[in-house]
Parts: sequence; structure tokens; C-alpha cells
Amino acid sequence: MYRDNPLKTVTWPDMQKMTVRERSAFFLRDGNPYHVLAAQQFDRPIIERLCDLATKIRRIGKTKGGIHFLQELLSEKRAMLYFAQPSSRTFLSFYAACQLIGIDPAEVRDASTSSEIKGESPEDSVRTFSSYFDLIIMRHPVGGFAERIAWLLSNSDRTIPVINAGSGQDQHPTQALLDIYTLQRSFENSGGVDGKKVAFVGDLARGRTVRSLAYILTLYKGVKQYFIAPKSLQIRDDILSALDKEGHSYEVSYDFEKIIPEVDAIYMTRIQDEWDTAEESRLIDTSPYHFKAEYLDRLKKDAVILHPLPRRNEIAIEVDADPRAVYWRQVRNGMWMRAALMLTIFDRTREIDEYYEDLMR
Ligand code: CP
Repeated sequence: MYRDNPLKTVTWPDMQKMTVRERSAFFLRDGNPYHVLAAQQFDRPIIERLCDLATKIRRIGKTKGGIHFLQELLSEKRAMLYFAQPSSRTFLSFYAACQLIGIDPAEVRDASTSSEIKGESPEDSVRTFSSYFDLIIMRHPVGGFAERIAWLLSNSDRTIPVINAGSGQDQHPTQALLDIYTLQRSFENSGGVDGKKVAFVGDLARGRTVRSLAYILTLYKGVKQYFIAPKSLQIRDDILSALDKEGHSYEVSYDFEKIIPEVDAIYMTRIQDEWDTAEESRLIDTSPYHFKAEYLDRLKKDAVILHPLPRRNEIAIEVDADPRAVYWRQVRNGMWMRAALMLTIFDRTREIDEYYEDLMR
């Protein structure tokens, strides 16, 4: 049973006056992540802990006994996956992660199949979900909506945790967690993520995964971020201001080919034309920002290529076979990381540590 409920102690207008980092203290309960809403709410120790747990869950899940152990951990819990925007990876990896640790998942993937079609507000719909479930995992086109729901539920008589599985153009915090886990695994024999050069390429203006990961990377010492995009899709000033405030090194560039041999990680993204207002993306030539097969020769031998997916044509298919292409590993890492996150939210991580210790004996 949780002792505190910080979101009950603050009004919604007062929340809006705070920075995201200031608001983050209200997302915790008893000092642990409870609502997962923004990348800025994480500090380095909790990220390292989540990565450690993800690895333990991955290894425990290799045996039948381990799978049975994991499936008992949260078998009394039910989760609602409310996805008001399309998704393959985030939806399925949360679904699979729920199954892995025993949570019973249910889904609403199309608001037209819910009573929203009869005029019910999304707020009332989600409050209804909270009557039946113990956790809400939600993707929504409106930025900040998950946070609004977390505040509403925390001020209702049935507070349950809310996980932001992608909100508007602003945040995708759980994608950033699996991305940093992938980077950490990729660099575990070369000094870790500290000191690495990470390039983001593509639609950086509207890519919420890029924005969330850019915040997380500020927690790593000596990291330099490169933002490489056509002018109209370049990273927004709020991210650059946040990096300036942290004294974090970055470079804004339009020359992808020049950057390739310099960096340790390249994070490719597709054009996010679902946010177009008048098909303006059609006018942008993104071809200079595609990773062509011949670029592999210029890439450092221990560099990695990431992509949150889905991919269109921004990475040549031939690149997939190169061991430095880690985007399919990223997909699978998402399941372990999301399982680690849900076990943390429900304070069931000690059992993982104990089982793992026994396994390693
Ligand atoms: N990376 C990601 O969010 O993919 P989906 O949109 O398929 O969930």
C-alpha cells in the first residue's frame, strides 16, 4: 500500500506553472516511479536500475522455470492498453511484457469502438477504465493528455498508475528507456554511454522519440548530440535550450555524410507526415538524410545504428544484415524494459533480484 499521493496535493493550474522537471516529483510514490509521463522524470540511478532489471528479466525468461516465476509476479493485476493512435511495437511490447510478468492485458485501440463515439469525453472514458483495471498504458495524439489523466485519477477515489506510451509530438518516455538500454548494451565493452557521440537524423521537429532520448542523454557525462535534418524538420529550440541549461554539448547540422565517420551512434527517424497540416512534407527532399548501404564503409567499426521504427526508406534494407544495425534488437529490448518498468511501478523488483541471485549461484 502506498503511503503518499503527491499529485493529490497540487492543483492542475499550479502544475501547469511548473517545469516538467519540477512536476516530476509529483509522478513518484514513496520515492519510486509511479506515473511514467516524461523523460525528464528519470535520473541516472533509476535508469541504471531499470537497465539492470531488464537484463535480469531477459536472462530469467530463458528457462521454463524462470518464465513460470515471472508469470506469477503480478498475476493479480490487470492493465488497459488505451491506444488512440496507431502502434505496432509499443502496443505489442507492452502487451507481451504484461503477459511475461502475469498482468492480464485488455485493449481499446480505436476510440470509435468506445463510448467516445456517443460523445463521452476521453477523460470520462479513461476514468471508466480505472474502475476495472490496475494500470493504464496510453497513447494519445494530444500532448500532455497522459499527464492530465494521471492528475485526474490521482484526485479521484481510484488512483492507478498511468504510463505515457507516446503523447502528441512531445514525449515517448518508454521508447527513450529502451533506446538508452540498447545503447548501454551496445557500449558495454567500450566504456558505456558516457563520452559517446550520438547523431539524430530525420524528422527531429516532430519526432517524440528523439525529444525524449535527447533529455535522457543529458544524464550521461561527456555525451555530444548531433541534430541532422532538413531546415524545416530541425530539432526545436526548447530541446536546445534544455541542453544549453544542462551545459550539454551539441551540434546542429545539415550535412549527414560528414557526420557519419565521427559518431558512435546514429539514430535514424522517418518523416512524421501524419502531423502535416497541408501535405507540406511532400515538398521536402529527405533523401540526403537516408542511410545508404555504401555509408557502412564510413561508419566506425564499433558504432551502432538505431531507429525507433517504423521505417520507410530512410535505412537501406541491405544495412539490416550489418552487426552495427541494432534496430531489431531495440524492438525486443522494449519488452524487457517495459516489464522492468511495470515491476518497478508495482514495487515487485526485490523478487527479481533474489531469483536472479539464485540463478547465478
Ligand atoms: N517506436 C514506436 O513507437 O513504434 P510504434 O508506433 O509501432 O509503437
